[in-house]
Amino acid sequence: MKKAVCPGSFDPITNGHIDIIKRAAELFDEVTVLVVTNPDKKCVFSPEERCRLIEKAVEGINGVKVDSFSGLLADYVKQNGISAIVKGIRSSSDFEYEFQMALANRSLAPNAETVFITADPQNMYVSSSLIRQIAAFGGNVSDFVPKNIVEEIEKRLK
Ligand code: PNS
Repeated sequence: MKKAVCPGSFDPITNGHIDIIKRAAELFDEVTVLVVTNPDKKCVFSPEERCRLIEKAVEGINGVKVDSFSGLLADYVKQNGISAIVKGIRSSSDFEYEFQMALANRSLAPNAETVFITADPQNMYVSSSLIRQIAAFGGNVSDFVPKNIVEEIEKRLK
């Protein structure tokens, strides 16, 4: 069974993430969406909230599960027999950042390949920070996040 992980902060999950997760689910038997605690980032949503929102957002996508982890991604990959780390790329700046992480993860977990999936052009400008900013000022985020989590995000961030 080919297992992949889609790691990230997901603060909160966006339509851009969902597109990458759906496309990863076409390529692998099992895809874990992994909420990773990043010590360099101060998140607005707790890991539990982020996992709950993701669980609602991925309802109906076959072969997808949700988990959270605090530590090195390479350790999670090794502990769970995962063979691919899937990352979405929106721009050259994403690539610079992801390329460095891919090389580090390759050194730490040589049995896992990092697989880059290019963002759908429609989602190239969509980010969690954009959503947080729009919702904080009472804007409508329904074009940017799955319909069944819009209300919860808007209520929580307003
Ligand atoms: O959504 P983000 O914040 O861009 O995701 C970054 C994330 C969480 C995937 C990355 O920071 C990560 O893998 N953190 C776990 C700690 C780790 O393994 N650091 C070394 C990466 S080479």
